[in-house]
Amino acid sequence: MAEKTITLTDNSNGKSTELSLMGGTEGPEVMDISSLYRDMGIFTYDPGFVATASCHSSITYIDGDEGILRYRGYPIEQLARQSNFLEVAYLLLYGELPTMNQCEEFQDIIRYHTMIKETLKSFFDGFHYDAHPMGIMVGVVGSLSAFYHDSLDIHDPRHREISAHRMIAKMPTIAAASFKHNIGEPFIYPRNDLDYCANFLHMMFATPCEDYEPDPVAVKAMNLLFILHADHEQNASTSTVRLSGSSQANPFACIAAGIASLWGPAHGGANEAVLNMLQEIGDVSQIDKYLAKAKDKDDSFRLMGFGHRVYKNFDPRATIIREVCHEVLENLADNNNPLFELALRLEEVALEDDYFVERKLYPNVDFYSGIIYRALGIPNNMFTVMFAIARTVGWVAHWMEMMSDPQQRIGRPRQIYTGASERDYIPMADR
Ligand code: CMC
Repeated sequence: MAEKTITLTDNSNGKSTELSLMGGTEGPEVMDISSLYRDMGIFTYDPGFVATASCHSSITYIDGDEGILRYRGYPIEQLARQSNFLEVAYLLLYGELPTMNQCEEFQDIIRYHTMIKETLKSFFDGFHYDAHPMGIMVGVVGSLSAFYHDSLDIHDPRHREISAHRMIAKMPTIAAASFKHNIGEPFIYPRNDLDYCANFLHMMFATPCEDYEPDPVAVKAMNLLFILHADHEQNASTSTVRLSGSSQANPFACIAAGIASLWGPAHGGANEAVLNMLQEIGDVSQIDKYLAKAKDKDDSFRLMGFGHRVYKNFDPRATIIREVCHEVLENLADNNNPLFELALRLEEVALEDDYFVERKLYPNVDFYSGIIYRALGIPNNMFTVMFAIARTVGWVAHWMEMMSDPQQRIGRPRQIYTGASERDYIPMADR
């Protein structure tokens, strides 16, 4: 088949170039503009990357108009119902679902790496007791760069794999330690007989004086939320990890950069912001007042957990979470959860409101996730940390994919310069 091209002509000077159209297995056609500057002396401008593909990737596919999300081709709905987090982690990292043996081996490897160095624990003491756990995560995960010189050759695929395993395994340990530091309790060592989510709950809620038996309902709910948050193609934090890694920085530093990006309320910080917002709204009688604030251009208030850059129909993750919210709250004997009732009503009212309908603003993954985390006993300031634990798998998968791409180059966007033109220095006495 002949290559499809688009011819671009600058009528002011007659210069012209042929831009080829590329395509993936699914999704819209993509125009290759890499020759544009060379042939025409022109840059492109796309703030927020609304219509710009930054890379090739075979990990995750999203169709925002149809509300489709697939990991390695598998619909998120099927993975959410039938899989577990570490199986999904394997799928994202290696591209295929594991066999029973591969799955067991992978789980053993992750268990083997759950401990952190004893000296790393003293890093936490440098943080004030009320430090936000995400602030602690950025610092402590970044500091892992200083610990694992045995496996930091980013050009060695085996070293990259060991770093990936270490990160996935240690993230819950560091996250739980951030929480314990916050509440002034001693850190709890991981238990390698427990599965990934149960072990995390153990490190969060056991104390040296009392064991903690994770509730299977809580473990199941956490598995599901971790699956839904595991990857989401080139979102802000994943793009940050890729851009950081493109300079050949070490993987722990790249993931720390991803955590920093995730923290923002427009991204992963939204789950904490949603719960804070629901608590502030407080009661269904206040919904109209807050919707009016969200619609007021002079008010910075936004309806947190609503809207998405890519999903303009519905966020399939939000649909799954809303369903399991009922299930989890009932099973945890928390079925009279007023914040859930408030969230349901808020969603209902917003979805009938012209402002939200016209702008295609639907509840996103973060609208309901905090309600489940809260029912599991996770405090608000740990919600984004939970997101970070799950998304580490996606970050690491993208970093590994990028590092093994022979065409990988340093990421270096250009700009439209709007500053002063050349001018002469004026000695201070003359200014
Ligand atoms: N409440 C009120 N108005 C909104 C909201 C909202 N949550 N989201 C978007 N709008 C309006 C916005 O004011 C704009 O209106 P207009 O066209 O009149 O200027 C229009 O909708 C388009 O918004 P945008 O800011 O240009 O859209 P974006 O694609 O740049 O931003 C977003 C996407 C997710 C940052 C934004 O919808 C938002 O801030 N939502 C609340 C925060 C949130 O829930 N974030 C979690 C995203 S999902 C988890 C993740 O993957 O990170």
